[in-house]
Amino acid sequence: MKNILLTGCGGQIGSELTLELRKRYGGSNVIGSDKRIITTGPLAETGPMETMDVTNAAEIDALVKKYHIDTIYHLAAVLSAVGEKNPGLAWNIGVNGLYNVLEVARENGCAVFFPSSIGAFGPTTPLDFTPQDTIQRPVSMYGVTKVTGELLCDYYHTRYGLDTRGVRFPGIISNDTLPGGGTTDYAVEIYYEAIKKKKFTCPLPAGTFLDMMYMPDAIDAAINLMEADPKKLKHRNSFNVTAMSFDPEIIAAEIRKHIPDFQMSYNPDPVKVCIANSWPNKMDDSCARAEWGWNPKYNLSSMTVDMLKVIGEKHAKGIL
Ligand code: SER
Repeated sequence: MKNILLTGCGGQIGSELTLELRKRYGGSNVIGSDKRIITTGPLAETGPMETMDVTNAAEIDALVKKYHIDTIYHLAAVLSAVGEKNPGLAWNIGVNGLYNVLEVARENGCAVFFPSSIGAFGPTTPLDFTPQDTIQRPVSMYGVTKVTGELLCDYYHTRYGLDTRGVRFPGIISNDTLPGGGTTDYAVEIYYEAIKKKKFTCPLPAGTFLDMMYMPDAIDAAINLMEADPKKLKHRNSFNVTAMSFDPEIIAAEIRKHIPDFQMSYNPDPVKVCIANSWPNKMDDSCARAEWGWNPKYNLSSMTVDMLKVIGEKHAKGIL
């Protein structure tokens, strides 16, 4: 039986991944943890919730021992735009936090899922059909922490035989918890603003293509990789995974199919523009497809239908 610990479970991915893991493995077997105290809402109501700081290895170790944890989904991180405002914090959470998780996992024999990112690439990477194994010289502190994380996870696998696995997530689009300060956040915000105001000011210019994915596919990616047959994995950290690639004009045009008078203007954010220009336009995720059957269900069209429906219902109920 699996006993799972999630770090950063109050974040954009963690808040939904925790609930899905609890459905699959049972609420009491999936322990949520976050540095914020969470005592109400679905996370607190469907299973154990603990307050834990990943920069404190003793706190991680205590939870792993208390719940006999065998698998850790390590989601605590600082996203790219916030990381540029506070590079020291991004390094401390992104690298020291992961190091602590890996050390505790080594001592207690846990498998580890680590989400890397399109942020692990940089301007010298081939940006079209970005290969699985290629140049990685990121220019953001977020990217530096992600490349370091990929290397650390590979090291713990080859040196200690730890079962580390990970993906390079693209921008994740969701309708529950908002992302916390990333470069790809615009592709979430645009749906909320389309429903609320029928207009949106985009922080990235037209022509900025980035990989994206709808949350249900991101959750499947994390769980399916952790459940994959290890004998089939030639790579471990970290698989390119993508579901779609678009620029602001294309997502706006898709929204206009449902909200014809939706308007978009541009006010580029220099930090986000610099980061986005250094990230892939579209990754090649054929290794993930071949090695563990990655196959996303949502494209831009089906995601847009679902996003507008769910956010529209929340707006109608006055809970936005
Ligand atoms: N969504 C992340 C960010 O924009 C990329 O992985 O920071």
